[in-house]
Amino acid sequence: MRTHYCGDIRAAHAGQEITLCGWADRRRDHGGVIFIDLRDRAGIVQVVFDPDSGQHFEMADRVRSEYVLRVRGRVRARSPATVNPGMATGEIEVYGLDLEILNTSDTPPFQLDEHAKVGEETRLRYRYLDLRRPEMLNNLRLRSEVTLAIRNFLGANGFMEVETPILTRATPEGARDYLVPSRTQPGRFFALPQSPQLFKQLLMVAGVDRYYQIAKCFRDEDLRADRQPEFTQVDIEFSFADQHTITATAEDMVRQLFASVLEVDLGTFPRLTWAEAMDRYGSDKPDLRVPLELVELRDLMGEVEFKVFSGPAKDSEGRVAALRVPNGGSLLSRKQIDDYTQFVAIYGARGLAYIKVNDVNDLEEGLQSPIVKFLPLPVRRAVLERTGAQNGDLVFFGADKAKVVNEALGALRCRLGADLNLYTCRWAPLWVVDFPMFEKDDKGRWTPLHHPFTRPACSPEDLAAKPGEAVSLAYDMVLNGTELGGGSIRIHTREMQQQVFRILGIGEDEAREKFGFLLDALRFGAPPHGGLAFGLDRLVMLMTGSDSIRDVIAFPKTQTASCLLTEAPGVVEDGQLKDLHIRLRGA
Ligand code: AMO
Ligand code: AMP
Repeated sequence: MRTHYCGDIRAAHAGQEITLCGWADRRRDHGGVIFIDLRDRAGIVQVVFDPDSGQHFEMADRVRSEYVLRVRGRVRARSPATVNPGMATGEIEVYGLDLEILNTSDTPPFQLDEHAKVGEETRLRYRYLDLRRPEMLNNLRLRSEVTLAIRNFLGANGFMEVETPILTRATPEGARDYLVPSRTQPGRFFALPQSPQLFKQLLMVAGVDRYYQIAKCFRDEDLRADRQPEFTQVDIEFSFADQHTITATAEDMVRQLFASVLEVDLGTFPRLTWAEAMDRYGSDKPDLRVPLELVELRDLMGEVEFKVFSGPAKDSEGRVAALRVPNGGSLLSRKQIDDYTQFVAIYGARGLAYIKVNDVNDLEEGLQSPIVKFLPLPVRRAVLERTGAQNGDLVFFGADKAKVVNEALGALRCRLGADLNLYTCRWAPLWVVDFPMFEKDDKGRWTPLHHPFTRPACSPEDLAAKPGEAVSLAYDMVLNGTELGGGSIRIHTREMQQQVFRILGIGEDEAREKFGFLLDALRFGAPPHGGLAFGLDRLVMLMTGSDSIRDVIAFPKTQTASCLLTEAPGVVEDGQLKDLHIRLRGA
């Protein structure tokens, strides 16, 4: 139907007769000349009809926004005064010779270039219109380039793509399951996979050796800007490979991806242990674009009069830390400090003490602060030395349980980075390694930091003796403060797997019932194996500079996990429920 895409026409086409198809982005009537901006997935080109175009001119007059058109015309250079340098096709226009209206359109609920004026709800309800926006189509295009580059890389490196089931049993990754009732087996349910974790491990037992899958995963959890109930992983597993081979291959993949799609060189990724990341950044996914670091003060504060500091300093689970903001004294107003105090409260911090450093050499008069009076001079001196404070700086303090201090000051660090534009680079990738195996939940029970199939660095006996001290062979890839992917060396012996289940309070019977197939497989020659999975949506979100993963998913769900376009989840007929042996409570 066409000879070219609208967005591809350039000055070199001048004089050619071409045929285009697309949507009317805008129609303007300029005293007897009609301009139509014709849009397709490649871009926009200006088409002109004048009264000499005869019947086509009259038809052009009937065109409205989002009508679907086919235009035959001649490309001509624009006069210098009318060249539009802001448009890829701005040097030319198409003089219309023939116009066919292929379809009309109702008035769209929003003008595409005015999408910001309508709420996201309207955009999601009419997603097919929202996706017509060049920005959104570009996101989808980049996503497609990313998956293609990933497939090429993994194919070239000997990985086999294998599909794993969607209707399956629970694969625990820490979220709630989506369940599907079985019609043929009353009272039984499939779970949608939270990840293909167990299947990829079974594929290693099967001898696939190197597997990958661009896999849909389902997690019924609280949604945020970087979480969806249904999302996509680039899921990878290796046999007979150590942590170094796995992380080096994954790092190569991401480096090549950024080089080929964005022409960005990410360089070699630094490695931080989990403990170091928590100490220095208060986070296991630190944003290394921001140069600020937390400074430990716990050992200084045990004896000070100020209970807010001495309490946590004496508590084995407590932490007292500082965050120095260079020039913060002049950059931050009293009001901003108050705002930050409210901000850290979200993370449970009960305050945000600070010192404004006017004169580092005058410990009596040179420090402006509501709390400095509680700190003896040697402590003041040590705080200034340790934080490296200079005249004009502002030092924030956090004192509480270590978890609260880390979360509060860790988030404040990122917030200050954004507010004061402290970024030292555009891209900051890193690996976080040596995670603890377990952490305690609210009820004091051990839970895995990754998943229960992650191998500890120690023996089953040492693990049982000191579960709190065990380090796992797990690793996360972090980019600009977002966890892009994570994985681990897996447990490949039954003894170790059973030991981990025991520590997690999963008894023999429960382990047998839930994971019997895995425990069985481990008896039949499971090779040492490991792998990782990337969040494809998050990766594309970062690569496109989007604020939300919803902007890089064609048909995403809302915060309440519904699809506004199809109105899913929907009600079902009684008959269907009956077939599934389900009776709704209260219905
Ligand atoms: P994990 O649970 O860390 O590991 O998930 C891997 C990556 O998937 C992305 N991700 C999400 N993206 C969007 N919405 C969500 N709700 C969501 N949840 C996770 C993140 C994360 O880094 N089986 C293991 C991997 C392995 O061990 O090989 C797993 O699923 O970017
Ligand atoms: P208060 O003793 O509550 O008047 O607090 C004195 C100062 O210490 C104020 O600036 C508070 O914001 C700050 N502050 C209170 N609790 C904490 C805490 N847990 N961590 C850091 N600063 C705190």
